[in-house]
Amino acid sequence: MTQDELLKELVKRVGKDHVENRLLKEKGGDKMSITFGYWDVALGTSHRILSIAKFLLKVLGLWNHGVKMALKYQIVEEKVVFPKLPPQFDGYRIMHLSDLHLEGIVDGGKSFCRMLEGLETDLCVITGDFRHHNWGESSAMLELLKPIIQKIHCRDGILAVLGNHDGISIVPGMEKLGLRVLLNESLRIKREHASIWIGGVDDPHFYRLHELEQTMKGTQEEEFKILLAHSADIVYEAVKQNVDYYLCGHTHGGQICLPGGIPIIANMKLPRKFFAGSWQEGHMKGYTSRGVGTSDIPVRLFSKPEIVIHKLIRT
Ligand SMILES: [Fe+2]
Repeated sequence: MTQDELLKELVKRVGKDHVENRLLKEKGGDKMSITFGYWDVALGTSHRILSIAKFLLKVLGLWNHGVKMALKYQIVEEKVVFPKLPPQFDGYRIMHLSDLHLEGIVDGGKSFCRMLEGLETDLCVITGDFRHHNWGESSAMLELLKPIIQKIHCRDGILAVLGNHDGISIVPGMEKLGLRVLLNESLRIKREHASIWIGGVDDPHFYRLHELEQTMKGTQEEEFKILLAHSADIVYEAVKQNVDYYLCGHTHGGQICLPGGIPIIANMKLPRKFFAGSWQEGHMKGYTSRGVGTSDIPVRLFSKPEIVIHKLIRT
């Protein structure tokens, strides 16, 4: 099938309006502003700021150390308790990856693939930003994603959402590799006679094409619900919709931080509690992944890349 034919298939699934809106916004993306810290700045301005940051890291002798730290992946186990969880899902394990930014990983993903060796979970979720570049040819990203997908073995498969770096045209290629991208869509995972609901929204940060109400259509009050979103931008809406667990990424845990993980730039406008790790808002629990890759600068300081294993526990 050609790329156009594949996109037509996607139109059948998520609607013409959604695909056309996405493609239109992607076309004009280079003229839009992005959130840089607490401010919205033009892309050109952010590039100048990043050039200065690169220069400073090199002058201060932190560049080589930071490049090494960007490949020091850690596995974080996050036990999280929910009274509403069906007993059949007590102990259910979800591997959570985010912000792979694949073309930017300096060793092509080799160290990361080694970290996945022997990891066994029930489900894997990937909360967006597969790409390093925002636009253009994506075949290099798909080639780098392939060995990663082959290393992930989960009984209930791999679910993903798109991030602000991901064009919608990458979806057919990614799904051919065996993962399922949720574009304001949902499904249920079953165990015996019980199920949990998992929904995923299109990028709520930059493209703002998330449709939470549509995603949650047909859910029941008593159901246990997990929402995947690239960023924490829609946490307050998700609380109103009775989501139980909200998984996201985008911030990279600051990526370049001061000692103690204090971010220089948090890359979000929300309160700091949503910036990295576990948090709670109202009845809803959530986790913002520090991510796997890096964006713009292949350096991490005091913010280790992570693979999070969420273990769901019923009280
Ligand atoms: Fe992002």
